[in-house]
Amino acid sequence: MTSRDGHSPEAARVGSSDDPVIPRVGTRLEGQALGIDVGGTGVKAAVVDLPTGELASDRIREKTPQPATPEAVIETIGSVIGKLRAAGSLPEGLPAGCGLPGVVKYGRLKTAANIDPGWLDVSAEELMKDRLGFGVLALNDADAAGLAEMTYGAGSGQAGTVLVLTVGTGIGSALFVDGVLVPNTELGHLEMGGKDAETRVSGAARERRHVSWKRWIREFNGYLARVEAYLWPDLIILGGGVSKEWAKFEKLLETRAPTVPAKLLNSAGIAGAALAGAYAQQVGGSQAPASRSSKAAGSKAAASKAAGSRSGRSKAVTATIGKAAKAKKPAASTRRRRPVSATKG
Ligand code: BGC
Repeated sequence: MTSRDGHSPEAARVGSSDDPVIPRVGTRLEGQALGIDVGGTGVKAAVVDLPTGELASDRIREKTPQPATPEAVIETIGSVIGKLRAAGSLPEGLPAGCGLPGVVKYGRLKTAANIDPGWLDVSAEELMKDRLGFGVLALNDADAAGLAEMTYGAGSGQAGTVLVLTVGTGIGSALFVDGVLVPNTELGHLEMGGKDAETRVSGAARERRHVSWKRWIREFNGYLARVEAYLWPDLIILGGGVSKEWAKFEKLLETRAPTVPAKLLNSAGIAGAALAGAYAQQVGGSQAPASRSSKAAGSKAAASKAAGSRSGRSKAVTATIGKAAKAKKPAASTRRRRPVSATKG
């Protein structure tokens, strides 16, 4: 079998998935995990309480270095984590996950629209393990944010086809079908008027083009209509930077499906990355995170201490893993009704 992906023999494997190991929505984990979110403008991290999705530490943010090469970004991640550690907020041995702005296959970025192309095909997971001293699951940033919204936020309990869009520096998408993620959808790159949609209607594009909210929402409605024509979602959740400005465009939004703002805002990407990282460690996915390596921890004793605390940290509570909790169907009477903040259309 010939793979179009000449650089990656893994891509030619038959009957296996190269996607990151992502839990089904409803999989419950206990304990804490470290979530890292690398965006086009900021690198953010925090410790996350897995049962609630709440942040258990301060959210530390630094600017994304430019150019955002793997080395520079991972150094920034190291600096952000160093601040958490210095504040005494980062327990040893936590599982970790990191959202990256591109398609992630077998721990590597396969696209790099909003990050330096130096990331392409480099093993992000190996590099992070090497430089940071512990294993980190890599996944798409919008998939991470979507997972958190579905688990802890606006999509909690929603069955059917749910589309989460993160509209900020770029446009990211996460598609869920009855609680299962279809990974690496890249709906920000749909064509619009001969251009890549995110270069016209992302939050950053709106600012760059000096377009008013009124004009932006007109164009964005066109984008949403196209997405709906292909996917027919039952619910759309709008996240990312523009969702903070929801009040400025809510009344002008036009969609067939109910559209609601994301609930977790700044912390969605962090919480979802943490959850996926903890899950990958549990199921021993190929990209399973680990504690600090003995090299970075400085001694074997430190490493085994880390491993010990790790095993106690992110246990599945009610063994929903594998079986996976079924997403709740809303009661029939409420299923068709639009949420209070639903839009016209
Ligand atoms: C990337 C997506 C990413 C989105 C938001 C897009 O340019 O292609 O993978 O999710 O930006 O960061």
